[in-house]
Amino acid sequence: MTEQELRQLLKDMSLEEKVFQMVQLPGQNFDTSAAVTGYADRQDQNDPLLSQAGSTLGIFGAAKLKAIQDTYMEKQPHHIPLLFMLDVIHGYETAFPCPLGLGATFAPKIAETCAQVSAREAAAGGIHVTFSPMADLARDARWGRVMESTGEDPYLNSQMAAAMVRGFQGEDVKEPGQVASCVKHFAAYGAAAAGLDYSNVELSRHTLREYYLGAYGAAVEAGCEMVMTSFNSWNGIPCTGNPWLMKDVLRREMGFDGVLISDWGAVGEMVNHGICEDLEQAAQKAAEAGVDIDMCADAYARHLAQLVRMGKVEERTIDDAVWRILVLKNKLGLFENPYKDADEIKEKECFLCQEHRRLAREAVRKSIVLLKNAGDDTRLLPLNREKKIAFIGPYVEGEDMRSSWVVTGSAEASVSIRQAAKEVLPAQNLLFAKGCTLLDNDTILNLDEFHMDGWEEENARLLKEAAETARQADVVVLCLGEHRRQSGEATSRTQIVLPKIQRKLLHTIAQVNDQVVSVIFSGRPLELREVSQYSRAVLEVWMPGTEGGHGIVDVLTGVYNPSGKLPMSFPYTVGQEPMSYSAYSTGRPKPEGMRGDYTTRYLDAPNEPLYPFGYGLSYTTFSISKPVLSSSSMTADGSITAAVTVKNTGDWEGTETLQLYLRDVTASCIRPVKELKGFCQVTLQPGKEQTVSFTVTEEMLRFHNPKEEYGSEPGLFRLWIGASSDCREYVEFELKPSGQ
Ligand code: BGC
Repeated sequence: MTEQELRQLLKDMSLEEKVFQMVQLPGQNFDTSAAVTGYADRQDQNDPLLSQAGSTLGIFGAAKLKAIQDTYMEKQPHHIPLLFMLDVIHGYETAFPCPLGLGATFAPKIAETCAQVSAREAAAGGIHVTFSPMADLARDARWGRVMESTGEDPYLNSQMAAAMVRGFQGEDVKEPGQVASCVKHFAAYGAAAAGLDYSNVELSRHTLREYYLGAYGAAVEAGCEMVMTSFNSWNGIPCTGNPWLMKDVLRREMGFDGVLISDWGAVGEMVNHGICEDLEQAAQKAAEAGVDIDMCADAYARHLAQLVRMGKVEERTIDDAVWRILVLKNKLGLFENPYKDADEIKEKECFLCQEHRRLAREAVRKSIVLLKNAGDDTRLLPLNREKKIAFIGPYVEGEDMRSSWVVTGSAEASVSIRQAAKEVLPAQNLLFAKGCTLLDNDTILNLDEFHMDGWEEENARLLKEAAETARQADVVVLCLGEHRRQSGEATSRTQIVLPKIQRKLLHTIAQVNDQVVSVIFSGRPLELREVSQYSRAVLEVWMPGTEGGHGIVDVLTGVYNPSGKLPMSFPYTVGQEPMSYSAYSTGRPKPEGMRGDYTTRYLDAPNEPLYPFGYGLSYTTFSISKPVLSSSSMTADGSITAAVTVKNTGDWEGTETLQLYLRDVTASCIRPVKELKGFCQVTLQPGKEQTVSFTVTEEMLRFHNPKEEYGSEPGLFRLWIGASSDCREYVEFELKPSGQ
């Protein structure tokens, strides 16, 4: 449609028709088998919303969506197509590693390609918009949704969020195989107090700007078509009704001109928050804050038209919102082709096709982080194929490896560790045992509860069988972890350890065979002290998705040399949470290697995590020289080159991720002790070396000063280039005032 035609369409619409465009109905109103349920179920088949609500979510499948579109458009007074949205978080049919795993690749290109393939599959299944990426900064591993984030760092998150937007949308969302991307949850949802999902957020405006807003901004800059509000309040106001956040920051400062949608029911939840008396007031507040679509709260549907008639909401507000929605539908090409790419043949061709599986396997390999591989000559990894290897644990047989956020696809498509091991290791050297149930009896999960009659007897049997198996083996690969429903939405935990029964399995096995390699599945950093103590080698494999088994066995056997790096700190103890390497400097820093009485420290635990941000080992080793600067000073219009020589000092070809960290030593407000400002990956043959350089520009030195101005300040800066956030050796340079 031309812009003129679109403007005319808007003019031709009645107030009700316009308001209905701003309503999102849950999918089960159109398809009773939809997986989601919500408030806004419509019983009356003649309800005009069924043929006029602008969008729906949670339903998928080409044939189904085409039929729904036909029925809908026939009745829609202006034949405006319905928008289909879905949470395509880390894959549609082919599941990729969960976003935290993608963060661990430190390879935005991989995240972009995974998003591209997810978009291709979702588009074939009839989807127009995905609620992804989640750009929330996550520093508290108790919060289950860390699984959906790419971690604790503003820079890494920005790179990843922008890459995913590019992958989903391509050059033009209208093109086949692309979907519109909705970045979420604006804003600061990841800072939920004490890691408790949906709870309030206490952050200064300074911290919000310094750490939290950047990744959403990067997604907006990459052109995401939509933004979603968050459930939490910030500064005393629920974000969904916060005009400063939505209008001043998102629209004016960030320049976002796409569609703003609430999170599920979040408009109505302002009543529970206690800032609105009823749904009517909530509709008014959300509209005033600039929320274009009410996801499933029914507040707009019931009250918005009346609010306009009463003069409480300007019709101009409605027109602006509907205009943005119509523009999005037009950008997607829906007026000409309301099915977009929905196509049963394409579904068959592309779902789980070889190319997509290959990419998934590659992504798994790159996401795996080697946390420990003890012993110089006696390292257990990569596995020696001549040895007898016992794969033990509840994840061996292929517990669902897709996370709670793959709502499409099937678990059966996943490759288990057992299956993958049998493909490549000599059958006579392989042993398998389940070891124990995945969960302790009566564990509460999101949506479920795990209970098994005869649980104790069954586990006694499994443990005994596992101990016998371990006794016969040279090496035991223990596959342990969280259940997929223990991370994701509404899965906050105060204890972030493995289930008791799995720890019992670990102890039992280590007693009969001390050659233990632990493979940990989780959607969040776990407290791994005990695992590390009982294991000679430890691999973190996240929620790896469809090709999990293959990718993991590739790393275990050395077909792929691990290169993943932690996108979040793994705590020494849960009591350190929330934590990040990039904390503000304090007045009493703990002196390195000393007890440090009356300094910033814990009495009963180290300040440091067990495994820091950016950390991850390889089967080879690397040396990195001290950085050399091209100059010891620069002005704002200049730059400095910082170079290191990285050398592969081991026996394997391997990839190292070099990370550039900066610190502003003195400024007009406190600054982080270290901030990631760049990274790059280098692959080297044994004995080979390469010089790697980063260019430091003034832009990288900017921050928000106490007046909320964004800029740099002259003075001294520290610079590190290392293999993790725990790099120590730094050099210094000066930013000189302009004109010097
Ligand atoms: C989640 C969002 C999600 C939405 C739609 C909400 O509960 O917070 O992340 O996109 O549901 O499924």
